[in-house]
Amino acid sequence: LKVGVLVSGRGSNLQALLDACGDASHPAEIVMVLSNVPGAYALERAAKAGVATVTLDHKQYDGREAFEAALNEALDAAGVELVCLAGFMRLLTAGFVERWRDRMINIHPSLLPSFKGLHTHERALAAGVRFHGCTVHYVRADMDAGPIIVQAAVPVLPGDDADALGARVLEAEHRIYPLALRLVAEGKARVDGERVVIAGAEA
Ligand code: GRF
Repeated sequence: LKVGVLVSGRGSNLQALLDACGDASHPAEIVMVLSNVPGAYALERAAKAGVATVTLDHKQYDGREAFEAALNEALDAAGVELVCLAGFMRLLTAGFVERWRDRMINIHPSLLPSFKGLHTHERALAAGVRFHGCTVHYVRADMDAGPIIVQAAVPVLPGDDADALGARVLEAEHRIYPLALRLVAEGKARVDGERVVIAGAEA
């Protein structure tokens, strides 16, 4: 399965995906990495892995539609079949999301549907939850919504600040994103209404 990864920043999740897909036994192939932020460190990671990179600076486009048209063109040109959002910090229009329906996945640093949006670790600490975590899900037009593919929970420990908790969550992100991508690429994470059915775990 040909995968395009959209990034905006440091790209540690991209790195986890690159490492996993570098293994011949992984069914996904990352064919391009696209950043909306020129100079994002994620682009260096892609180049180091020998993966084609594209930069589309959203500020150079006259509105979201024009930006997304260019995005689609780049993805199509590379033959991308599945889009992975990995720290991509632009909201996508309903039209774009619909075009990639069930062919676009995202990682979010919380146990969705709790703590959509930004600053999830601070908010988890403020809420006093005992477990926090991360979620890989199919993308829907509403932000951080959509059928859940894989989640990982981590404990909130006494003395945690947002950085300590965030680091624990990030480790889990790097484990579950490659796993979720594998399930999707193998056709084992089928969307059924609002949820995902994992093949072999139907019960
Ligand atoms: C991760 O926490 C991811 O869950 C969120 O943005 C962050 C990206 O980090 N969507 P990185 O660029 O993958 O290191």
